[in-house]
Amino acid sequence: MLTNAIKGVKDILPGDVRRWRRVEELARELFRTYGFSEIRTPIIEHTVLFARSIGATSDIVEKEMYAFKDQGGEEITMRPEGTAGVVRSYVEHKLHAQSAVSKLFYMGPMFRRERPQAGRLRQFHQIGVEALGVQEPGVDVDVLALLHDFFASIGVQGVELQINSLGCRDCRPRYREALTAFLQGVKDKLCPDCQRRMDVNPLRVLDCKSEHCKAATVNAPEMAEHLDDGCREHFSRVREGLDALGVSYSVNPRMVRGLDYYTRTTFEMVATDKAGAQNAVAAGGRYDGLVEELGGPPTPGIGFAIGMERLILMLPDSGEAQEGPALFIAALGDEAARISTKLTHGLRQQGVWAEYDYMGASLKSQMKKADRLGARRVLIIGGDELARGAAVLRDMSTKEQTELAIDGLMEELVTKLTV
Ligand code: HAM
Repeated sequence: MLTNAIKGVKDILPGDVRRWRRVEELARELFRTYGFSEIRTPIIEHTVLFARSIGATSDIVEKEMYAFKDQGGEEITMRPEGTAGVVRSYVEHKLHAQSAVSKLFYMGPMFRRERPQAGRLRQFHQIGVEALGVQEPGVDVDVLALLHDFFASIGVQGVELQINSLGCRDCRPRYREALTAFLQGVKDKLCPDCQRRMDVNPLRVLDCKSEHCKAATVNAPEMAEHLDDGCREHFSRVREGLDALGVSYSVNPRMVRGLDYYTRTTFEMVATDKAGAQNAVAAGGRYDGLVEELGGPPTPGIGFAIGMERLILMLPDSGEAQEGPALFIAALGDEAARISTKLTHGLRQQGVWAEYDYMGASLKSQMKKADRLGARRVLIIGGDELARGAAVLRDMSTKEQTELAIDGLMEELVTKLTV
């Protein structure tokens, strides 16, 4: 118990952090070129925020939230996703009054009490973007192009962008009615969960993983047939925009999302070479009613979140081998140890990664340690050389050795090591 992390919650060890950083750095660089600025919102929020935005009947809110009463009796939840907090912050700080369009991105841990398996954790990490304030389909195209570019530049293959339109608050109720009528006819063939969902959240039935439910709903009516003129026009302009940019995608008319705030364009980046439920590496869509729902002025929005753990599983190996120190100082004897401590410290202040041995071990074992750390050079201080006021610099790959005077050694090393 004491030495086990909580189920579904993982350490990211130094060897893995290098990959994570590569992804994060690439995301930051790409988001900058698309004009997104970073926002950092709290991990804990009022529980009601998620019930209002994600939906009280969604799986996340019904079954998966880490929700608790704090010592003061307040209902608090550890965020299960990033959009609700960003929109809450956007409304609270009146970002809409500062500029007509807000393009924000975030990275961080999210919490859902799901059944853990590969790529599905209870603490997982998302990199997300949200673009608020634009109704025009151009922003959908931009956000989708950004997602596409991200996957292309990180070098992940075997993913497909799937898109759909979920309509708006005017046309979706009509679709819901048609779908509910259809589901009534096949009710007996649905799983108990779907029989219950049918009344509260019928669209979710289309997302059920049970083979029985899938078979029973093959002929279910599709949202596309029920879109009103505005939504149909919007969706076709999004597709035209993607075609014009050469962003490849497929339309998945059965895609429904597990969060209730979505309207119009929704999408998922799906891993095509893996079967199973955990195949969305990233997902998102429009949420044109959410800002208003949370007390802000009517403001459209669209965004996505990439699941870091799922992405990392798909990343090709790309030589993020640990870089070793620029210099290891092997010291023999007390005087040498004194010089080496000072030198190491001075080099670090100059931005050079330098290491030395704390234990006063033999030269052989210090050389072994330098090798294990992957040091590019070793400076040997001690013996006859030290008596002559010199030290030996050894290049670990060419094995070439040069003698350097102890006097002015610091400056000499900085020049040698920083070129
Ligand atoms: P979501 O589909 O719930 O959407 O999650 C987005 C991505 O987060 C998923 O595609 C998946 O890669 C990852 N993810 C979700 N749950 C887990 C889990 N338990 N373990 C590992 N990875 C997971 C959202 O969260 C929306 N906020 C996305 C969005 C942003 N829509 C508009 N803006």
